Amino acid sequence: MKITIFGTGYVGLVTGTCLAEVGNDVLCMDIDQQKIDKLNQGIIPIYEPGLEEMVKENHQFGRLRFTTDAKMAVDHGLFQVVAVGTPPDEDGSADLQYVLSVAKTIAEHMTEYRVVVDKSTVPVGTADKVKSLMQKTLADRGADIEFDVVSNPEFLKEGAAISDFMKPDRIIIGTDNPRTTELLKALYTPFNRSHERIIAMDVRSAELTKYAANAMLATKISFMNELANLAEHLGADIEQVRNGIGSDGRIGYHFIYPGCGYGGSCFPKDVKALERTAKDLGYQAELLSAVERVNDRQKHVLFRKIHQHFNGQLKGKIFALWGLSFKPKTDDMREAPSRVLLEALIDAGATVQAFDPEALAEAKRIYGSKAGLVLCKSQSEALENADALCVVTEWKNFWSPDFAQLKLKLKEAVVFDGRNLYEPKQLKAAGLTYYCIGRPVSH
Ligand code: UDX
Repeated sequence: MKITIFGTGYVGLVTGTCLAEVGNDVLCMDIDQQKIDKLNQGIIPIYEPGLEEMVKENHQFGRLRFTTDAKMAVDHGLFQVVAVGTPPDEDGSADLQYVLSVAKTIAEHMTEYRVVVDKSTVPVGTADKVKSLMQKTLADRGADIEFDVVSNPEFLKEGAAISDFMKPDRIIIGTDNPRTTELLKALYTPFNRSHERIIAMDVRSAELTKYAANAMLATKISFMNELANLAEHLGADIEQVRNGIGSDGRIGYHFIYPGCGYGGSCFPKDVKALERTAKDLGYQAELLSAVERVNDRQKHVLFRKIHQHFNGQLKGKIFALWGLSFKPKTDDMREAPSRVLLEALIDAGATVQAFDPEALAEAKRIYGSKAGLVLCKSQSEALENADALCVVTEWKNFWSPDFAQLKLKLKEAVVFDGRNLYEPKQLKAAGLTYYCIGRPVSH
């Protein structure tokens, strides 16, 4: 099948590559010439396990091509997949300018029937907006050409995007036209083999499904973070509580890990956007705004513990920081808790020696040569002359450090762990003071 993908960001590139992998003829279009030039040389703009090899291979076989030529892009695919960004506006609502501009481009160039497949996370009602903008653009051209608009949200997790695409939990197809449902079903046949994964519904419900899924997951996390803070006040251990409640099938073990807050490109943006949508409709979404507030507060929890431990005397102190990306297996630092912590420490006069297996280049891009921030090449380099260690991302390499070495290296022999990675008894035995989330301090 012939498929055009608009936007070669995270979602677009993964979608295009996976569709090419199963034998489709995919053309990816982006307005960024530099990005397209690099992709044509096999250089990919993001880190995602397995993606680079897949892009190269499919590119070599000619199944995956890249262009900036809009006319060529619209001519190519029966399916015109929209995977451009929807960044938050100042008021939290999703900025639709890129989605609408792609819709206009399609309508300006199309000469025959097209299916516009919306993969970007967009507010409920966007498919209708896309439809009327396209109708108007076609009418202005004096063209009478049929098209359909489908909402087909993605549920990719960074770090696991390829397997999420290849073996999805569900494929949501939102359309009000049965003809399009059939076309989309055909497109997804290779990903729907072992059991039925396709869930067809109306457009607005599909658009809301994406927000509902992310908001539910974010709610689980904020709920656990709230309880973790409460557990600290009560002298209880949230890890035992987590085990206790996760065993209930109705609750489950997924997404109930307390920590120093959720980050990334989706949860913060989507919770805000859904809250904003509600507000615009005159409905106060109490739970959503609490989820967001709890998370914002949680990103400051480690700093508060550090501040308290050192009685506010942070000037001149050196902190080793393990982890910069918002989660493991990605170099993405958008809304990462690490940023809140490192900025607070530096503002308080401390130096931060940070290490991350993948996000150092991204940190350099964001912070340049920010005073007080030293980017280190290894986790042990980050520990040199440090007073304390802070862990904010649960990269595997951080799971089992040599605690005796840590005790020798750290001037204050104290560890602040935002991901509850360690067994308090082990650190205690090594002579380390250990702060984590929702568990009693051990020393
Ligand atoms: C998320 C959704 O999972 C995905 O379906 C959607 O398409 C995009 O948004 P992603 O942003 O890649 O994916 O990250 P995810 O793995 O969901 O983690 C989000 C954040 O929640 C991370 O900061 C993570 O550390 C945090 N988290 C996750 C917790 O704090 N506790 C948990 O129990 C789980």
